[in-house]
Amino acid sequence: MGGPAGVRAVVRAGGPLRGATRVPGDKSISHRALIVSGLAAGRSEIDGLSTGDDVRRTAEALRACGVGMEAPEGSAGRVVVTGRALELLEPERPLDVGNSGTAIRLLSGVAASQDALTVLVGDESVHRRPMERVVGPLREMGARIDGREGGRFAPIVVRGGGLHGIDYSPPVASAQVKAAVLLAGLRAEGETTVRERVATRRHTEEVLALAGRAPWVEHGPGGYAVRITPGPLEPFEMRVPGDPSQAAFLVVAAVLVPGSEVVVENVYVGPGRAGFLSVLERMGADVTVVPTGPTTADVVARHGPLVGTEVRGAEVPDCIDEIPVLAVAAAFAEGTTVFADAAELRVKESDRIATTSAELARMGVSVEPALDGLVVHGGRPRPASRASAYGDHRVAMALAVATLAAGGGATSEIEGFGSVSTSWPGFLDTIEALR
Ligand code: S3P
Repeated sequence: MGGPAGVRAVVRAGGPLRGATRVPGDKSISHRALIVSGLAAGRSEIDGLSTGDDVRRTAEALRACGVGMEAPEGSAGRVVVTGRALELLEPERPLDVGNSGTAIRLLSGVAASQDALTVLVGDESVHRRPMERVVGPLREMGARIDGREGGRFAPIVVRGGGLHGIDYSPPVASAQVKAAVLLAGLRAEGETTVRERVATRRHTEEVLALAGRAPWVEHGPGGYAVRITPGPLEPFEMRVPGDPSQAAFLVVAAVLVPGSEVVVENVYVGPGRAGFLSVLERMGADVTVVPTGPTTADVVARHGPLVGTEVRGAEVPDCIDEIPVLAVAAAFAEGTTVFADAAELRVKESDRIATTSAELARMGVSVEPALDGLVVHGGRPRPASRASAYGDHRVAMALAVATLAAGGGATSEIEGFGSVSTSWPGFLDTIEALR
């Protein structure tokens, strides 16, 4: 197996995968832990942070705004943050978020709350991703914010400050939009409410609660609502739990590769993130979830046969990032799996409907891309000698799992594999350690 840092990796098929392992700290939680501690009044300690480039970009952006950010030597994932009590310094240069959609959207919300000019830029993929979903509500709150094509795309330029609260119902289910609006609401006049028809991950709410400002929340048949009032944040200590979206690659690999049994320890399985486990359960996967805390668990996955299922509606936000690897699981299942109501896949790091379909088709899988999802007919995929990750970390890791599972000791050369460094630089090393 080739080096994980390279632009391409050579992945060898076959297993089995056996043993217990951990995954990096959750990426979504890590971004929020850094941002909220950076806005808190004093010294916070965070352990178990995601070690990927995306989260490093958020840390660098905050540092450029005067937030103290010290990583004690030899302690990957641990950081001491000295927050600025809601008042950041005006950054001298554009903040570069790299490949991170979460960073650019959350930091737009923070920038909107500051009496400062902030310019946000990213890589090619980030500059293609829709930004009006945060620009719109932040303008409604009174921020002067613009971007390419009238605010539809990065670069984003924010002249913040003087905000007032709004009552907002986002047209798309997006935890990033909810976070941007709530973070802006921390320095807006009056209350800020976000109403979601389909609830998304709750990490902003969870981390704000750690900082002593648990938002008011209501969750009923009519949907989910969260409300924040302006005010200070207290510093806090936290340990970021394992990333379920990364655990999903190992769990699906264990389920698909004969003879495998893998335990992924200390994974976040709280609201909005455990959807892939329900999907795999419906597919008949031999997966056991052993709780280790209110929102964490060890996940035990063993090889076994799968059947097709349907993934649609309110379940989609709970497993949106896992759909590429769930599509790989579906490719090895008996019968057909339908992924619908998932048009958001088209605006991720790549167009994941197009990229996942194209690469599965290369492996001989019968797959039908749709406008809002894909239909995968299970069968016997064969390793493709060449594959492309299209610079998308999750497509890269999903293809590595597909190659492992296709067996036969063949190898697959995956172009664009270097993208895994955005979220999990050690992915292939972890696979090798389990094999
Ligand atoms: C994220 C939310 C999701 C997810 C992304 C991370 C977050 O995006 O796909 O990987 O940390 O809030 P949307 O909120 O845009 O759906």
